[in-house]
Amino acid sequence: MPDDVAASSPVLQPSVIVIFGITGDLAQRKLLPALYYLMKANLLHEKTLIVGITRRDVTAEELFSKIDLDGDPNTDSDPEVVGRIKGALRMYKMSMTEGTDYDKLLQYLNHLEEEQGMCLNRLYYLSIPPQVLGPIVRNLGEHGLNATCQHAAASSRLLVEKPFGYDLTSAKQLIEETGRYFGEDQIFRIDHYLAKETTQNILTFRTHNPIFDKIWDSQHISQVEITASEQIGIEGRAVFYEQTGALRDVVQNHLLQLLAVVAMEPPAAMDSDATHAVKQTLLEQIMPIQPNEIGERAKRAQYEGYKTEVGKDDSFVETYASLNLSIDNPRWKNVPFIVRTGKSLAEKRTDIRVIFGDAKADHNELNLRIQPNEGIDVVLNAKKPGFDETLQTVVMDFRYEDNFKNNGHPDAYERVLVDAAKGDHTLFATSDEVLASWRIVESVVKAWEVNGDGLITYKPGTLLTDLEATTI
Ligand SMILES: NC(=O)c1ccc[n+]([C@@H]2O[C@H](COP(=O)([O-])OP(=O)(O)OC[C@H]3O[C@@H](n4cnc5c(N)ncnc54)[C@H](OP(=O)(O)O)[C@@H]3O)[C@@H](O)[C@H]2O)c1
Repeated sequence: MPDDVAASSPVLQPSVIVIFGITGDLAQRKLLPALYYLMKANLLHEKTLIVGITRRDVTAEELFSKIDLDGDPNTDSDPEVVGRIKGALRMYKMSMTEGTDYDKLLQYLNHLEEEQGMCLNRLYYLSIPPQVLGPIVRNLGEHGLNATCQHAAASSRLLVEKPFGYDLTSAKQLIEETGRYFGEDQIFRIDHYLAKETTQNILTFRTHNPIFDKIWDSQHISQVEITASEQIGIEGRAVFYEQTGALRDVVQNHLLQLLAVVAMEPPAAMDSDATHAVKQTLLEQIMPIQPNEIGERAKRAQYEGYKTEVGKDDSFVETYASLNLSIDNPRWKNVPFIVRTGKSLAEKRTDIRVIFGDAKADHNELNLRIQPNEGIDVVLNAKKPGFDETLQTVVMDFRYEDNFKNNGHPDAYERVLVDAAKGDHTLFATSDEVLASWRIVESVVKAWEVNGDGLITYKPGTLLTDLEATTI
């Protein structure tokens, strides 16, 4: 986080951040670097502690020897900050499924609070595979870890990573189980796309620029495309991906959340309740794809080599998914919203393309680039200099890098930790949003589980446009 962003942010309340799965991929690549930057920016209270939970004998030294804390292979992490983060970290070995270990964990947290001489907010970050989420939440609840320090009004919060269920039924079960032990106000369901600065700017851009605010509707916009394409494949995560696929992994959560931010009504106030209210309304207005529409409105593909990678010759799990969605409200009448994601494609990009006017005739485009090259461009038509009247498209390009040179922005996981520590739910998914999103994709999820009808194959490195010329 850049210094001037940090300077304007208050120090967070003293907390104990309990990371289940500290040795894992997410903790090492994202959470510990985020904590490093928060510590560097002096945003963490000096009494804040990190408890790293593992089932193995791993020391803090061993853990840090494998991590690039500043996330930049070309620079060395600041040794003073590394010293502070090591000083705050307590590695804690336990079984994640054994009840008695949670009694001991509670005693340990109480002991840490006595050592610090104060109550600490408890943040349980569940950075573990989805199959252990249920047992951990149940044990936290049954062993009193959902309550807070006995001496004061500190809070106890649960941060959970996607997937939030596997389909509508399992999502309902998960929400019900979690709700038995933690109130909705204690649960923070992370969607790191929402925590990206560029996503947060979408609503501001839409509503604070009258030239766009006035034309943000079906009379002016003919199509919206929301794309998350990756160059990497499944990177060895065969078991996970075989159970998930592109639709569940990216479309059901990240892309539907982005769609909601693009299409929802402006909230009455810029606070969590008002924002979630309009987002929920919008998600409920997206028309679920009916079973008889699947062939037409849902497309899937798999990259060549995927079957060998997962060791399953007959796998029909999709590595590319695209849905053509409609919103049942006057603002978006007859405007197709295309949401699509794919792995092993030519480009890495997440963006939102809004087409004004008829895409086949003179039209304009607004391109909201979430990553990389964060920014926004507007595609206009101009007269090509010369004696004739030839038109040429030109691009007006706003780049964060150029316009906010000294301002930078916090990484999504820094934002997640800061907002959860403050108790601000705005950028987290509510249980109702999770269920509404599953309802939208449910029929496709179920149909695609049964057989590989309509699944096509593409070569790694294919351009999205080439792939879609074959599928759509
Ligand atoms: N990785 C990402 O980029 C990413 C992105 C978005 C969301 N997520 C979500 O974040 C969560 C963590 O992902 P991850 O990739 O970090 O997971 P991971 O590396 O597979 O596992 C994290 C840690 O959990 C512990 N663990 C593994 N299997 C376990 C089991 N059966 N019982 C108890 N503990 C177990 C292990 O720690 P010990 O062996 O030390 O106990 C492991 O290091 C998942 O829900 C994932 O869906 C990950």
